[in-house]
Amino acid sequence: MQVNGKAIRTIWFDEAEQCVRIIDQTRLPHQFAIIVINSLEQACDAITSMQVRGAPLIGITAAYGVFLAMRDGHDSVRQVCTLLRATRPTAVNLQWALIQMESALCALPPQERAAIALDLANRLAEEDAAACSAIGDHGLAIIAAAWQDKLEKNPEASCLNILTHCNAGWLATVDWGTALAPIYKAHRAGIPVHVWVDETRPRNQGAFLTAWELQQEGIAHTVIVDNAGGHLMQHGDVDMCIVGSDRTTASGDVCNKIGTYLKALAAFDNEVPFYVALPVSTIDFALHNGVKEIPIEQRHAHEVSHMQGLDAQGQLTKVQVMTQASAVSNYGFDVTPARLVTALITEKGLFDANKESLQAIAP
Ligand code: MRU
Repeated sequence: MQVNGKAIRTIWFDEAEQCVRIIDQTRLPHQFAIIVINSLEQACDAITSMQVRGAPLIGITAAYGVFLAMRDGHDSVRQVCTLLRATRPTAVNLQWALIQMESALCALPPQERAAIALDLANRLAEEDAAACSAIGDHGLAIIAAAWQDKLEKNPEASCLNILTHCNAGWLATVDWGTALAPIYKAHRAGIPVHVWVDETRPRNQGAFLTAWELQQEGIAHTVIVDNAGGHLMQHGDVDMCIVGSDRTTASGDVCNKIGTYLKALAAFDNEVPFYVALPVSTIDFALHNGVKEIPIEQRHAHEVSHMQGLDAQGQLTKVQVMTQASAVSNYGFDVTPARLVTALITEKGLFDANKESLQAIAP
């Protein structure tokens, strides 16, 4: 996608410098910084500190992490994968990518592993970008039909209002994004879209990352507090919701950033279509009950008690927003049951959120 008019991805291997480069997402939207990850430890750190985040991008970063470890002479592929797997628990893409790396590398002589690991990491990155572009194409058809429908009912309508939660844009993937890919394609096809962006406390991925992405593409958007969505839906101001997923069960339950479930409930109550956009790599076919089976990440209380922003001098700084006398919990994700999901938008097309429909793409 574009940053200041220049095409860029979230992660890539720099052939000239023989290193992996990423965008440091902890500094956005105030600073756009490209940094180097050049060791297994730096790859693990980039994932845990959320310099890279978003289910697909975590998986690709882990794949490059395996390459860096092999290049630096780590002799156990399994130990390397165990370290990377422990960085974040909820997004299944991490395991998905590591399983592929393990099965490609384990049987190889150590001196051959680095080259194969780099090839595979590059290939997974390309495949992720292609999958997200295809998600965009399938989602575009839904948006185009909804816009047509809205215009037929109200020829004066000025735009199609889409609500999204967290950041499931290109920053969460290698390119294009999942939930935002259909929006980008709709905008480029001339459909007037307006995006309601949930700020997404505590880390503000909506206000910081989604809003920044939409600015870069020139797409109309409005940042709202996390609790505003239900009110907007009651007043007919949301035509559809599109969110991403960190893990989807074989039965169509979806696990996404904390707060997604409440949006789905409000959408259901107000008959607003609720779509989830995801690459097939996000489906965990071994799981059937999302609420019971998906591990939910709990992060540091500091993310709730403190906020990052610019001070009066324009310096990036953190301030404490509550006293330390209260206990804090920080659940990262929640599960939206399949019954609240209108459809799943994948690179292989649309699926109903149920076992029968997903059976067609089960491995
Ligand atoms: O904690 P994060 O920022 O990694 O959470 C990201 C999300 O919840 C996204 O919606 C999800 O990974 C889908 S991304 C295409």
